[in-house]
Parts: sequence; C-alpha cells; structure tokens
Amino acid sequence: MGYDSLPRLAHGREERSRKSENSWATSIYDYAESLPRMEILRLDSLHAALRETPLAEWAGRLPDTLPARWWSRPHGDRERWRALLASLPPPPAGEARLDADRVGVVGRAPLDAAMREELTRKLQGLHPWRKGPFELHGIHIDSEWRSDWKWRRLAPHIQPLHGRLVLDVGCGNGYHLWRMAGAGARHVIGIDPSELYLYQFAAIRHFIGAAPVHLLPLGIEDLPARLGGFDTVFSMGVLYHRRSPIDHLRQLAGLLRPGGELVLETLVVDGDETRVLVPEGRYARMRNVWFLPSCGLLERWCRRIGLRQPRVVDITATTCDEQRATAWMRFESLAQCLDPGDPERTVEGYPAPKRAILIARRR
Ligand SMILES: C[S@@+](CC[C@H](N)C(=O)[O-])C[C@H]1O[C@@H](n2cnc3c(N)ncnc32)[C@H](O)[C@@H]1O
Repeated sequence: MGYDSLPRLAHGREERSRKSENSWATSIYDYAESLPRMEILRLDSLHAALRETPLAEWAGRLPDTLPARWWSRPHGDRERWRALLASLPPPPAGEARLDADRVGVVGRAPLDAAMREELTRKLQGLHPWRKGPFELHGIHIDSEWRSDWKWRRLAPHIQPLHGRLVLDVGCGNGYHLWRMAGAGARHVIGIDPSELYLYQFAAIRHFIGAAPVHLLPLGIEDLPARLGGFDTVFSMGVLYHRRSPIDHLRQLAGLLRPGGELVLETLVVDGDETRVLVPEGRYARMRNVWFLPSCGLLERWCRRIGLRQPRVVDITATTCDEQRATAWMRFESLAQCLDPGDPERTVEGYPAPKRAILIARRR
C-alpha cells in the first residue's frame, strides 16, 4: 500500500484482516496481549521501512538496544495506560486527516452516544494531553497547546518535507510527527523519553492506522553521535531544557546528512548577540530551564559549530490562547506562570515566554 493514499485510507474490520499483508495495518487491539513485550514500538516495521537508507543499521540494532532501557525504568502508571490502550474499541471506518490542524480521523458515520462516551472516557484516562489538537470521530482532544499554531509558523520556512527522512527530537505525544507525514515525508521518527506520550501516540495511531511514523521512547543522548542520516531534524522546545545547549546543537548537526536541514524552536530573550538569560531558579515555574539566548546569540552558536546560514525566521510571544488549561489538561498552565500584575513578566520576574524558530543547514 502506498503512503500516498494515506489520507484517504479506510479503517474497519476489513483492514484488520489484511494484517498479514501489511504490518502497518495491524491494530493495537489485535496485539494487546503482546503490548508488554514492546509491540507498541513496532521496531520490525521501522527496520523494514528504513532498509536501504543510511539509518538501516541503527534501526536493525534497536530491538537489542532498546528493551533494556524500556524495562529498566517503567513509569508507575504503565500498566494502567497499557490496559487502557488494550481496551480501546476497534477503529470505526473513517478517513485519516494528517494535514489538518486537528489531526485525526473523520468517521464515515457518527459514533453512537454510548461509544462516544466510552471513547472520551478512555482517552481522558491518558490525561494530561499537552500537545494537539486531535479529533477522532468527532471527539475533539483540546490539548493544552495549540501545537498547530507552531506548525503554521514554521511550515512556510522549511524545505518541503516530501520524500524526506525526518527526525523530531523531543516530539512529545507526536502531534507534529503526523503533520510531517501529512506534508509527505518518506518516514518520520520521533524520540521522547516521557512514557505517557508513547501511549497517547499509540492511541492516536490506533485510529489513524497505517502511516510512515514511529515514536521511540528515547532521549537524544541515546542516539549514535554521528548517525548522519536524516534529511531534516527538528528540535522544538528542547534546547532550553539542556544544560549544555551548544552540545545539543552539535548532536543535532551530527544526526543530519550533509546538506540536511535543522529546524530549531526555543525560548529566547530580547537583546544583542551577547545576551543570554540563565534563570537563578525556576523560569515560568519550570525547574529545568537553563539557557535562554537572544536570537543573535543562537545564530552565533550555530555558526560556531559549523552550521550553514543559520537564520531566525519567526519570533512569537506565547499567549494564554496558545497555551492554556482545557478539559484535556486540567493542571495549571501559562496564565498561572505569569505575574498577575504584569503579564510581560513571569511569576519569578523574568521576561515572559517568547519563542523563536531557527533554520540552518549542515555542511
Ligand atoms: C516542551 S516539550 C516540546 C514538545 C514538542 N516538540 C513541541 O514543540 O510541542 C519538550 C519535550 O522534550 C522531551 N525531552 C526531555 N528530555 C529529552 C531528551 N533528553 N531527549 C529528547 N527529548 C527530551 C520532553 O519529554 C518533552 O516532551
């Protein structure tokens, strides 16, 4: 089955019967029994998809290298999430929508009230939904972040993704992975060490069905230093969490093939190319924020490590419309991180969040 037909792919009972023809089409429902044995990762299909690419050897080694890590630090909710996933009803027939703001599936027929209630309750069991939005058969997963806004800001500036091998470092629950596939990428791999996101991704995949998309529960430090095989590498919302931002940029560059494109999104501060904010303690209530450079300094860091033509293409202040609490993310959000008397400041007195998108090329 060609990936080109993906957006019009039909789902339903007939699809599950094609399981032996196409492992992509296997629904989670079918292999619930084997979920504990890592079937959720689908490493076989990843290896098959990456055959004859510079990533083939790495993908072939994953079944040996990943399980130890996967088992060594199970999240306390793993069994609950696994059971939720295994209990999802078979995907009703519908059309996948990967190139829409609300990624998901439009059903051929509306869900009946009981099914809608059951599905909503199960998806809510994977709370908090931070990235999205998604829409599955009329159920709108209104996530904390309007991740589609970030996609709209960056999409006009990047090399067309059609036919490219793409990596998204720190991909969260994979919202942008689907958008990348929707933009025609040959194959998209996301890595994120947060276990809940893997289950959210798998729940969405259960309904969307076949797609050239994988999410692996890895940190960037788990990837070979000079993999050098991706046409485009994204790192969005990760740099400021790294203690050593220049090392992060070097790692990203090493994952690209020569001439490949880096798309980096991060928090920045105003000021000239010598300015960087290192918060004394928390920043916007986040404990793990280390470096917020000016745009000029970010570009200089990229030039220093040998990236070509680094340029900031967008700077946007984050608003409480883009990041907010919803029924699908009921914890505190941006509004509670800003000074109630001065929304230009965080509660700690630092400049309020402003994010930049930078594009660069590997030599
Ligand atoms: C602010 S979120 C950004 C999510 C998404 N990229 C976006 O832009 O909406 C940062 C993500 O980085 C992930 N992360 C944290 N440490 C990481 C590491 N060492 N390697 C890769 N991802 C990491 C977190 O789990 C989290 O999902």
